Order: sequence, then structure tokens, then C-alpha cells
Amino acid sequence: MEELLNISNLKTQFFTKKGIVPAVDGVSITISKGSVVGIVGESGCGKSMTAMSVMQLIQKPGKITDGKIVLQGENLLKYSKEQMRNVRGDKISMIFQEPMTALNPVYTVGKQVTEAITIHHREKSREEAKEKTLEIFRAVGIPEPEKRFYSYPHQLSGGLRQRVMIGMAMVCNPKLMIADEPTTALDVTIEAQILSLMKNLQKERGTSILLITHNLGVVAEICDYVYVMYAGKIMEQANAFELFKNTAHQYTDGLMKSIPKITAQKQQLYNIRGMVPNLMRLPKGCRFCPRCEKAMPRCFEQEPPLYRVKSEYGDEGHYVRCFLHENSEVKEDEQP
Ligand SMILES: Nc1ncnc2c1ncn2[C@@H]1O[C@H](COP(=O)(O)OP(=O)(O)OP(=O)(O)O)[C@@H](O)[C@H]1O
Ligand SMILES: [Mg+2]
Repeated sequence: MEELLNISNLKTQFFTKKGIVPAVDGVSITISKGSVVGIVGESGCGKSMTAMSVMQLIQKPGKITDGKIVLQGENLLKYSKEQMRNVRGDKISMIFQEPMTALNPVYTVGKQVTEAITIHHREKSREEAKEKTLEIFRAVGIPEPEKRFYSYPHQLSGGLRQRVMIGMAMVCNPKLMIADEPTTALDVTIEAQILSLMKNLQKERGTSILLITHNLGVVAEICDYVYVMYAGKIMEQANAFELFKNTAHQYTDGLMKSIPKITAQKQQLYNIRGMVPNLMRLPKGCRFCPRCEKAMPRCFEQEPPLYRVKSEYGDEGHYVRCFLHENSEVKEDEQP
């Protein structure tokens, strides 16, 4: 499939008084045209900072220190501020977890979306922009759009606000939509509706989606390919189906087991033992080994590379950063 965005060896660090925090530590991610790619991992592992790096919205004391972010053949890290503003308005848009912070409380949602349309399509008259807003509201499933047009953000439910945000993100017909935990603030039924809405937009318009979540259930729902991130690094990556069927990394396995299962009588909860390490004091060797149930002495000494392993599903490759898979690595001449 044709490549849309390629992040390679991205490093984003925070230069704090206490020391350097390597929030994103050499991450490589590829997004093909029209695909839905997920990033999963526990809180603090660098998911949002990866997204913010792509948007170049990292605030001081943070800085992108290495890597490339190539969108349709052009390295965005070489772009000027002005060029980046255009990329953000035109090619990549981002949806955040809490839409209340992204919407302006003093204007009606209709006005805000209309405004966004006039910025993008200067040729459109006010009436045309309003008509287009109503069209978008219908497309994202907002009931009674003519009435909702005049609502202020606080008058809408969380789910409706998120629909407005998705509508706003679609105004420029972006090539890529980055959604950072877009459904965590919502209850499960509404979450399912928002996810299927995003999936539809992807299908109908061919928009690629980078979906950030700590919920593997959400990943299973809509992602084609998944990156599992831990303490700033990718630990495993595979086709979503492959990841569930042939989980290779102990960390991914822990995340799978942590998906709440409701059995007939009780809700079972599993937690990966130990805690996410302080990024300023990462353990030597594999950063996950202090929590790993299968750690070997070597894991405490050396950092494993990403090994490509055999995969049953998808042809994009299944990679795992773990010495346990060293011997199952697929070499170039025997690639599946
Ligand atoms: N302003 C800052 N100063 C210092 N360190 C920071 C700053 N902002 C982020 N970090 C570091 O970056 C790391 C990654 O943060 P990030 O927001 O990307 O995590 P996340 O995976 O999105 O977590 P969550 O699931 O909670 O949203 C954090 O663990 C933190 O150590
Ligand atoms: Mg985050």
C-alpha cells in the first residue's frame, strides 16, 4: 500500500532541571494511505508526545532531537513554522481526549465550525459555509443539526462534543487524522458509536487515522496495524489480528490480560506487576525486564533490537523487541 507518513527514529526529549527525559526514544512508525494505525501503551509511555511531535506542538522544555517525519515524501522537520501551520490546517488534523478544551466556550459550535470552513475555503459565502457546516453535522451523526448549530459546547453531551470535534477535523479533508484517546471520556455505548463513525469516515473518504489509546479493546475494534509502546520505545508491532492471535511480547501479553473480562459472576482484573519506570532512570538492558515474567540474565544487560518474526496475518510484518524471539527471526531471504 502507498505510504502516507513515515516517522523514523524519532527522539523527543524534555530538558528539565532534574535531567533529560527521553519521552520518545527512537520511534519508527509507518502509516499507509487509508489505513487505521494504533499506538497502545500504559500512561506516560510517550503516546501523546509522539503525536505532538508529528504536529510539532511540543512545548518547552521539550524538543525533537533526532529523526525524520516524512509526509508524502517531505520531511516535516525541515519545514518552517509557516509551512507547518499549513500542514496542520490542511493535511493533518488532531482530535484530543477532552473536546471541551479544544472548543471555545463562548461561541456556538455552529459558528466555530463555520469559521473553520471560511478559513479553509475563502471562496465560500456565509450561507454556503453554514450549509456546509450542517452537512458536516449530518455526516458525523449530530441529531437535529439546525438546532444544534446554535448550541454552546457546554450544552452538548460529551459524545456530541466529540462529534463536533471530528466534524471540525474533517473540514479540511485531511490526509491524516490523529486521534489522541478520543473516546476515553465517554461511556462504552457512545464510545462504540464514535469509533464506528471514525471508521466510516476512513472508509468513505480514505482518510488515514492514527489512533492513540491505552485500550486494546478499542484497537481490536478499528485498527489495521498496531504499535505497542513502552517507556518511549516500540516493543511490538503487527497487524491487529496478528497481534491478538500471536502475541509475542510479554508486555503486550500483560496489556491483553488487563482488558477487563466480565464473567458470569465477577469482573476479573489483571495488572502487569511493577510500575512504569522513571524515564530519567531507565533500567539497563531491556526497559521492560524488571516487570517481565520471562526475563533472562541477558535482558538486564543488553537492549534487544526489534526482531522480525513470522506472521500469519497481514503482510506488513510482525516485529518484537525481545531476546526470546531472537531465534525465530525471519531473515530477508526467508521472509513470509
Ligand atoms: N513538560 C514535561 N516535562 C517533563 N517531562 C514531560 C513533560 N511532558 C511530558 N513529559 C514526559 O513524557 C512522557 C510521555 O508523556 P505522554 O504524554 O506522551 O504519555 P502518554 O503515553 O500519552 O500517557 P497517557 O496515556 O497518560 O496520556 C511522560 O512520562 C513524562 O515523563
Ligand atoms: Mg496521552
